[in-house]
Amino acid sequence: MERARIREFISQMTLEEKAGLCSGADFWHTKGVERLGIPSVMVSDGPHGLRKQEDASDHLGINESIRAVCFPAGCATASSFDRNLLRELGEIIGEECQAENISTILGPAMNIKRSPLCGRNFEYYSEDPLVSSEMAGALIHGVQSKNVGTSPKHFMANNQEYHRMTSSSEMDERTMREIYLAAFEGAVKKEKPWTIMNAYNKLNGTYLCENQEMLTDVLRDEWKFDGYVMTDWGAMNDRVKALKAGCNLEMPASGGVTDEEIAAAVKDGILSEKILDQRCEEYLNIIFRYEENRNRTAVFDLEKDHEAARRIEEECIVLLKNENDILPLSTERRVAFIGKYAEAPRYQGGGSSHINSFKVESALDAVRTFDYTKAEKVVYAQGYDDAEDRIDEKLLEEAVETAKNANAAVIFAGLPDSFESEGYDRKHMRMPECQNALIRAVAAIQPNTIVVLHNGAPVEMPWIHDVKAVLEAYLGGQAVGGAVVNVLYGKTNPSGHLAETFPLRVQDTPCYLNYGGEHDRSVYSEGVFVGYRYYASKEMEVLFPFGHGLSYTTFSYSNLRTDKEQIKESGLLHVSVDVTNAGKCAGKEVVQLYVAPKGSTVIRPVRELRAFGKISLEPGETKTMTFCLDRRAFAYWSMEIHNWYVESGEYELQIGKNAQDIVLSCPVYVESETVIPKEYTLNSTLGEIMADPKGKAILEQGMAEMMDMGTRQTEEQTQQGDEAISSEMMEAMMEGMPLRQMLSFVPGVTKETLNALLAALNG
Ligand code: BGC
Repeated sequence: MERARIREFISQMTLEEKAGLCSGADFWHTKGVERLGIPSVMVSDGPHGLRKQEDASDHLGINESIRAVCFPAGCATASSFDRNLLRELGEIIGEECQAENISTILGPAMNIKRSPLCGRNFEYYSEDPLVSSEMAGALIHGVQSKNVGTSPKHFMANNQEYHRMTSSSEMDERTMREIYLAAFEGAVKKEKPWTIMNAYNKLNGTYLCENQEMLTDVLRDEWKFDGYVMTDWGAMNDRVKALKAGCNLEMPASGGVTDEEIAAAVKDGILSEKILDQRCEEYLNIIFRYEENRNRTAVFDLEKDHEAARRIEEECIVLLKNENDILPLSTERRVAFIGKYAEAPRYQGGGSSHINSFKVESALDAVRTFDYTKAEKVVYAQGYDDAEDRIDEKLLEEAVETAKNANAAVIFAGLPDSFESEGYDRKHMRMPECQNALIRAVAAIQPNTIVVLHNGAPVEMPWIHDVKAVLEAYLGGQAVGGAVVNVLYGKTNPSGHLAETFPLRVQDTPCYLNYGGEHDRSVYSEGVFVGYRYYASKEMEVLFPFGHGLSYTTFSYSNLRTDKEQIKESGLLHVSVDVTNAGKCAGKEVVQLYVAPKGSTVIRPVRELRAFGKISLEPGETKTMTFCLDRRAFAYWSMEIHNWYVESGEYELQIGKNAQDIVLSCPVYVESETVIPKEYTLNSTLGEIMADPKGKAILEQGMAEMMDMGTRQTEEQTQQGDEAISSEMMEAMMEGMPLRQMLSFVPGVTKETLNALLAALNG
């Protein structure tokens, strides 16, 4: 709708009507203004399916919602690294929303996985901002192509469940920009979500709902967001402050209390009516969009979408280990399916994303109905119960016996609901002891043991060397069983890659000592070193690195090249690499391009993922993957200029099988076009000055002039007499020397010569 018409609406509204638009009508509906034809619309969770509640409402997934289809959660879909797949999922969800008259789906959930312990990691995509932003962006694109809105959440720095409604996430500006805002930035700029959901928590002491810097300066002014901001459910703190900061809609209903607060603030002159009008205009810019583009012929075809859920999950499953090519399984072998999750998979997480699945397909159902094997070829034993973490000796013995008499055992394990959920964090990274014990016991008697995992976040695997293969199915949606069976038996070649690191132990994680925080302050002292940025920089051994994922075929890389050897910061760089399917079956590979600065004046991760793509190859086929990099691929956020900054210098372009296995690399020189204005003082160090090309020239000339014979003599003495101080050592010591110290240590330097030097440097 045109802005002029929207303003016309606003001019016809009373103060109370305008204030009324700023909070919901009930749990899931916005308020309308009937006399003016402003609609009331429904929003609903999600985001990996519909949680449309028609009766009793809640935000924790407790009460019943309509029967729907549960698709794989974010942890799984991110592993596909496949934008087209996420777009398709978005289109399906958009269509479902149209059929169910839902104007906006509350998602995607796209917070960074700062620690594997966050209870809600299963909903989130990645520890890497590019992957989060690209995956979420593709989903947003798909949903909105059906004229249904999205609400990327939880904006921002909502990386723990512990005290999520009061805790303050505290970080420096660079960490905020490079990691936590970057996760949202690309998706918001490119896909223009209709709405954004602000997080419960505070950022550096200010609640997100009233954080003007985030909601207005960054979102609207910098990123050109033109939709409305709604609160997470119950995330309102001070309504008037929030309105001023840029928060349009409080959800759910406030019972009229905060509407009155807004109206009173205008009357009392505390709040300018112009701001209220502005918030209403931003809101009305979106609210008609859905009604005006209704698709009344849309159908929610449960069965069709169930099939899609299976197909999508097949693209997400990650083959973590496959010793001696034990997988895929032959249909001729007698296989024991062991573990409760073979019969009753854990396929989704608890909380607001909980879907009332109309049916669930287990691996056992699938293997018996998909024509893979004759029924007698697959035997089953429950192995454990996940109601409580207790070893049931009878179930364990029965499972061992069943596994013993088969050619291979597939153990279905993972995390029970109680171990990870919205609302609280995990206390550790372990699987239940009853499952670990089962895996050990079965692997001890069955050399062909395979583990299939159903979990929303990394787990420790103390039995990893005892088993032949591990398949990470994540929380794979209601058709997970069929998808897993298709992968186990090779109907589908696995192509998922990890969008997060699996550390060896929770103690290895970058924020282990600080996670959760104290007294409602959570200090992000690891800075930008989140996930692989930390492990790779420290060259740490991990269980499975970010980006890892095997296939039933093998891929080789060759001929990494760029279209230029040197670019200016404003230029574009095309990077190409040839990928060959060197094995015997068709497969898909995730091509990962990392950029590694060869030197920097700031502390940077050893490499960062800057582009990725998924490629499908027939056996023997070679395809070229080309990426286009712009300045952001080389930039860091400078706290001096409060902007992105590209340093001149050499960067290495690296193709990685994962973040810790670089197979090809080539250099490129990037020339900065941004000048950081510098004000040198007597406390500026010689190193700092030498790092600046202009400073270097002036200093070298100045030094040459200042250094009289005496200085040269000192140098000669150093060279001849004192072997303990080499010129490298001297240089290293000088690096940190402030200008003022030259007075004491460099013969011939006077206060006047120093001031003249300073004037030249700052001139
Ligand atoms: C969650 C949101 C959800 C909302 C509505 C909140 O508790 O954090 O993700 O969309 O409830 O159910």
